[in-house]
Amino acid sequence: MEKIISLCKQRGFIYPGSEIYGGLQNSWDYGPLGVELKNNIKNLWWQRFVSSRDDIVGIDAALIMNPKVWEASGHISEFNDPLVECKKCHERFRADHLEKNKCLNCGGEITESKQFNMMFRTYLGPVDDGENQVYLRPETAQAIFVDFKNVLQTSRQTLPFGIAQMGKAFRNEITPGNFIFRTREFEQMEIEYFIKEEDWEKHFDKWAKEMHEWIQSVGIDKKKIHELDVPKDELAHYSKKTIDFEFDFPFGRDELYGLAYRTDFDLKNHEKNSGENTKYRDQESGEEFWPHVIEPSLGVDRTVLAVLCSAYHEEDDRVVLKLKPEIAPYKAAVFPLMRNKPELVELAQKIYKDLREKFVIAWDDRGNIGKRYYSQDQIGTPFCITIDFDSLDDDTVTVRDRDSMKQERISIAELEAYLRDKSQYLSTSIYVQTN
Ligand code: GAP
Repeated sequence: MEKIISLCKQRGFIYPGSEIYGGLQNSWDYGPLGVELKNNIKNLWWQRFVSSRDDIVGIDAALIMNPKVWEASGHISEFNDPLVECKKCHERFRADHLEKNKCLNCGGEITESKQFNMMFRTYLGPVDDGENQVYLRPETAQAIFVDFKNVLQTSRQTLPFGIAQMGKAFRNEITPGNFIFRTREFEQMEIEYFIKEEDWEKHFDKWAKEMHEWIQSVGIDKKKIHELDVPKDELAHYSKKTIDFEFDFPFGRDELYGLAYRTDFDLKNHEKNSGENTKYRDQESGEEFWPHVIEPSLGVDRTVLAVLCSAYHEEDDRVVLKLKPEIAPYKAAVFPLMRNKPELVELAQKIYKDLREKFVIAWDDRGNIGKRYYSQDQIGTPFCITIDFDSLDDDTVTVRDRDSMKQERISIAELEAYLRDKSQYLSTSIYVQTN
């Protein structure tokens, strides 16, 4: 884990947040390469589950919602973690994270546990009294239920169908940690898939399969994935069944994603609390009912971490990130063999600029070719393109494959098609969300 954190910092994937002020407990900033990697993962998810499907549509809702939403969803009363405090050093812990009833810091005696609500509070407008108190959303899911009727009326979907959303969520975690695994501010990619109650098991199994396929498509090592059927007494307040998809992180096995059967809990409670009809009307029978819901819930940051842990390899004299080309920050790097030969630099610059209109491409003319390969391997660039003296005569270049380290001669005219084919480059029309 230390090696991955250090590589992320040195190469511009992820830095400690607010570092020049001494940081801020477990907050992390994505740097130039990290944001490319993260956006590529989000794009892949959006394309796989929204743009390319007829039965799922997306939304992008406000982060701050009417606080009545969180009363109806049960988050105000139920979204608690058990908090304990050390009587000696006053360090605070989640009671369920302690194996013995002792402080993890000094071994001291700990207090009785009390329930701590994990929602972040803030105030709307200039007066900070109880009247104006609002919450930063603790999950992206809830807006999907609140917007359910609007989506239904504007998208002409019929059951079964899904609504997807990705974006930031906030939880005042008692013990954040393990790099970007558990933070107080993170991103989720969630789908609420609305179904008829009697079909829930069929759809649950289908979504479990879809999640395994996603895991493979994004380049997470499937040998490190384990399904955990969450015991009844540990289920979230809205769930009748949940499977956690766990991953063998370097610090141990822990939750990567969740798949939950949320029943009709949310829609039903929003009708009760808002007084608005949140039911679905079957067009053939005219029957009105609350659809039930299967929820595949994915953390973006945990995906980034599992992808990095799966891709990180130490081989002989190199460190290489074997990222899938689809999600690698750079699809290729372009090098002139020598930086002091203007004719090489000119042709290399032309190739670089042409490719850059289509792909995210790196340029490197420092040091020797070996050092440039070493550097691109560390950041997971799948292809390195070298322009040499032969290129000036025969319009070909050397393309070196990151994983096999094999080199082949490719004509300059074919480079774009070559990269497109190898990296399954996604169309530029894909949605990138920034919040
Ligand atoms: N809507 C259901 C829901 O939010 P969850 O299991 O609490 O369920 C879903 O969260 C996913 O969000 C987790 O599987 C994880 O990937 C991610 N996640 C949750 N809390 C997180 C945190 N504090 N830091 C980073 N990711 C987190």
